[in-house]
Amino acid sequence: ELESTVSITVVGASGDLAKKKIFPALFALFYEDCIPQHFTIFGYARTRLTDEEMRNMISKTLACRIDKRANCSDKMEQFLQRCFYHSGEYGLEENFSELDRKLKEQEVGRLANRLFYLSIPPNIFVDVVRCASRSASSPTGWTRVIVEKPFGRDSQSSAELTQSLKQYLTEDQIFRIDHYLGKELVENLSVLRFSNLVFEPLWSRQFIRNVQLIFSEDFGTEGRGGYFDNYGIIRDIMQNHLLQILALFAMETPVSLAAEDIRNEKVKVLRSMRVLQLDDVVVGQYKGHTKGGRSYPAYVDDPTVPKGSLTPTFAAAALFIDNARWDGVPFLMKAGKALHTGRAEIRVQFRHVPGNLYKRNFGSDLDKATNELVIRVQPDEAIYLKINNKVPGLNMRLDRSNLNLLYAARYPIEIPDAYERLLMDAIEGERRLFIRSDELDAAWAIFTPVLKELEEKRIAPELYPYGSRGPVGAYYLAAKHNVRWGDLSSDNNS
Ligand code: BG6
Repeated sequence: ELESTVSITVVGASGDLAKKKIFPALFALFYEDCIPQHFTIFGYARTRLTDEEMRNMISKTLACRIDKRANCSDKMEQFLQRCFYHSGEYGLEENFSELDRKLKEQEVGRLANRLFYLSIPPNIFVDVVRCASRSASSPTGWTRVIVEKPFGRDSQSSAELTQSLKQYLTEDQIFRIDHYLGKELVENLSVLRFSNLVFEPLWSRQFIRNVQLIFSEDFGTEGRGGYFDNYGIIRDIMQNHLLQILALFAMETPVSLAAEDIRNEKVKVLRSMRVLQLDDVVVGQYKGHTKGGRSYPAYVDDPTVPKGSLTPTFAAAALFIDNARWDGVPFLMKAGKALHTGRAEIRVQFRHVPGNLYKRNFGSDLDKATNELVIRVQPDEAIYLKINNKVPGLNMRLDRSNLNLLYAARYPIEIPDAYERLLMDAIEGERRLFIRSDELDAAWAIFTPVLKELEEKRIAPELYPYGSRGPVGAYYLAAKHNVRWGDLSSDNNS
């Protein structure tokens, strides 16, 4: 039997994503012995570079794990020796045939598996897939393609993209990335819920009052405005990252941990969701702001953003799942750029304790006694549960306190980057964390009508100052559904 090898071609090798995430992740996998022993990495782009120049370019992006600095530079050298470069056009099959020849030189005598990572703008996805599948597919092993969003900008364009890709690839060969699924705490969500008796029985409308999915960044679009303006925050963050988390959170118990079983449940819960309505959405856009002698630009000051753009950089939405488990429970999403803090978290607010013996101790506001489970995806990964507790002493004073699992304290190791896990899974053919096409369709179906309506009616976003908490409209939206956003800054001992 032939020994196998894997060849990984990063198409768009000189782009930002490749430099920041993909090459560093590949190196980390090599370093942790998590890719096959024999492998080859090719960078592919239009820029003319020699192998040596490409090695130089990526060597600057590689980093060693903090806890394993020793002998890292040897490893880096070994890794770089397996990296090569080919320059070519994205739509020319002959350039991919040349790549094919170079790949074969490296693969000689082995069963060759090939992975293409498309780190390129969406308008050339199909060209590259056509060329790669016709001229550079592996003749002996598997050929897989990783694609990154945007997967279209609404139901129709997404379906068209899927159709075009399927002219050249089977669904099995397509690995659609949502990098939030590779994050440690998102991966842990199912473990937390399904392997702890104290959680799963509470996971329904009977005990959960609302669920909040919050993403914020404390910087603006800075230079990415050109891409961003055509999409906006709903497409950039909600329709994919937050919705994926929601699906994992709310799905029924899968038959097993097999990829298709999990994805079946995700599709099911997505298809049970109500189509989002305009009056359940608030959009915002950041405006310039001066604070402490520094001035921060407005979104429309970004030179890559068209003047007068109405693209939202902030959105809040109330979503509902019309099934037996979640009937009536609001799932609130909030996503924004240029806010006062940068975080991603899931907050679960539980119902009041019926006939609470201690209600007097909370004054008239039982909300103060709400149990809340918070899963902080980033930064400072943590899981904490707010409980009511007696303040020690002779009187009966109650206090809300956190049972706190702070990752840095419990697990003093570096948490792998999302791209490491996803690349490893793609190489191993593990599809659990990738988006199947029916999942993608179901996700677009929820958001497409409201996206159209926002655009057709030219709804003006509510302006909020750079570095603020976002538009007040988000608070009214939550109040309409009897929800208070978990206060990000008032978490003591979190
Ligand atoms: C990307 C979005 O998918 O996710 C960006 O396009 C966003 O706008 C990024 O900044 C956030 O990812 P992370 O891993 O830095 O939270």
